Formats: sequence, C-alpha cells, structure tokens
Amino acid sequence: MRIAVANWKADKTQEDSLVWVKRFGAFWRDKIHLPGGIKEIEIVVCPGFTALDAAKNEIRKLGLPIKLGAQTVSHFENGPHTGQVTAAMISPLVDYCLVGHSEVRQELRISDKEINQELERLKEVKIKPILLASDLEQAERVCGVLRSLRRDDYAVTFEPIEAISKEGAYKSLSAEKVKAVLADWKKKLGLNCRWLYGGSVNPGNAGELIKQPDIDGFVVGQASLDPESFLRIIQVMIEE
Ligand code: PGA
Repeated sequence: MRIAVANWKADKTQEDSLVWVKRFGAFWRDKIHLPGGIKEIEIVVCPGFTALDAAKNEIRKLGLPIKLGAQTVSHFENGPHTGQVTAAMISPLVDYCLVGHSEVRQELRISDKEINQELERLKEVKIKPILLASDLEQAERVCGVLRSLRRDDYAVTFEPIEAISKEGAYKSLSAEKVKAVLADWKKKLGLNCRWLYGGSVNPGNAGELIKQPDIDGFVVGQASLDPESFLRIIQVMIEE
C-alpha cells in the first residue's frame, strides 16, 4: 500500500494542528472519492510532540483515516536524560516515527550510532520507523535493525538535503533521478520494504514521481502544512 507522510517539522502549535485536522476532515469528505475505499493509501501525519495527544483525539472523534507519527525519538530507553522524549512515552500516541532526518542529524547532532539505537528503541515498543537518508552509504550504516522487521512495518526514504524546500521554494530532483537512486538502493540494501522519496514533493510533481515503479510514497514537508495541498498529493497518489 502506498504511503503519504506529512512532516510538519517545527511548524504547528497544538491549536494549529487541530485546525489542520478539522479542515482536512472537511476536504476529505467533500473531495475524495475512492473506488476501492481508503485502504488504498496509508496517511501518516507527524506533528510536533506537544500536538500528538490532541491530534489523536480529534482524528478519532472525526473518524479520519490518519495515523500519527513522531518526528524523532530519544536513543535512550529511560533514565536521567533531561529533555528526551522516549519511545515508551510516544508509543500510546503514534504508529510511526521518522528516524534520521537530515535536520535532526545536523541540528541535534545525532550520529549514526544513535540512529541505530533509536531504531532499537522503536522496535522494542513496536513503533514503525520511517528511516530517512540522503545517500546510500548513510542508509547502509543504519539499516541493520530494519532487516529483522516485516515489509509493512517500516519504510526507507531517499531524501537528498539539496532537494528539501527552503523558504517556500521547491527544489525537487527529477522523477528519473529519484527512480534511479531508489532502484539502486533496492538492489544494494537488500531490504524488503516500502521505498519513499522526500524533498520538495508538492501537488505539481507528485504525479510524475509516483508513476515511477520504485516509489511507494512520499515524505512531504512544506506542501503538507496546508491540508488541501496535502490532500491533492494524496489524490494524485490514488489516481496515478
Ligand atoms: P519538503 O521537506 O517537502 O519541504 O522539501 C521534506 C522533509 O524534509 O521531510
């Protein structure tokens, strides 16, 4: 099943997140007509930690087919680590968790070793990881834990740093380039999983990208902040 992941980064308060969920719900009912029902696509939204609980309640109340993900998780299991949010803390709230996003790597100085530990922590509490890497070597260094997971229980995302949108400007790689990279990763990493692309995905390029045989879905930043824009991407993923 294809998967559309919204990564809101540091962009929404709890209140903003609730507004988004309500607007998404209204658009969802009006605009989307799915021939085979909502099972055709998995929708995952990753708000900041402080909005997870409220978003979960609202999604449940409105009966929306949205799963939640966290944007990162501590590599510690528990203990004296002030400021850390552990896998056990988020496990009642989320199905998924992003791991190894380049912004987390750079801004929080997270190493490959810690990313491997994060994957272990998530496995212990059965949260599904969505690993992000910007090149093959980086992916190779952190994919060990993933080998013990089942296909639908994790995803690997090619997200080149230079393609991430900046100040509202989209800078995506071409669909051909993304396809070539993911085909190479598929062969060389030997993982049986869903393969995603992230980096300036928007309603204008999602169709061309999802047509490629090696792309099972997207991690969407900027274009997911507006529910209508994210829904347009979902619609394209269902129709193509
Ligand atoms: P973008 O971000 O879609 O705004 O480029 C994607 C991401 O960094 O997850």
